[in-house]
Amino acid sequence: MSEEFYKAAELRDLREGKLYPVEVDGEPVCLVKLEGIVYAFTDNCTHISGPLNQGDFDGCAVTCPWHGARFDVRSGKVLRGPARQDIYTYPVKVEGEDIYIGLPPEEE
Ligand code: FES
Repeated sequence: MSEEFYKAAELRDLREGKLYPVEVDGEPVCLVKLEGIVYAFTDNCTHISGPLNQGDFDGCAVTCPWHGARFDVRSGKVLRGPARQDIYTYPVKVEGEDIYIGLPPEEE
């Protein structure tokens, strides 16, 4: 089954290159706009769940505020440890002013 899309924010909420945390259906998600494209990724670091929205953001990489792991927010790829696992990135749809993100279907 494919993901379900939920409204996460509006385009006017985002500033270019500034992290924007939201909760979508109970999931902590971080949004960021880069050159007009919106990316969405989990707000939980894959090391021990540091809050990525509170980290530094530079170019296209977020640095976890707890132990300094870095991730590319476009792909979720780990760029630097201690985290070893990539972060989850969500599909994003923009319709008019509204930003929707796709959450994986819940397991029954
Ligand atoms: S919790 Fe993110 S690097 Fe440790």
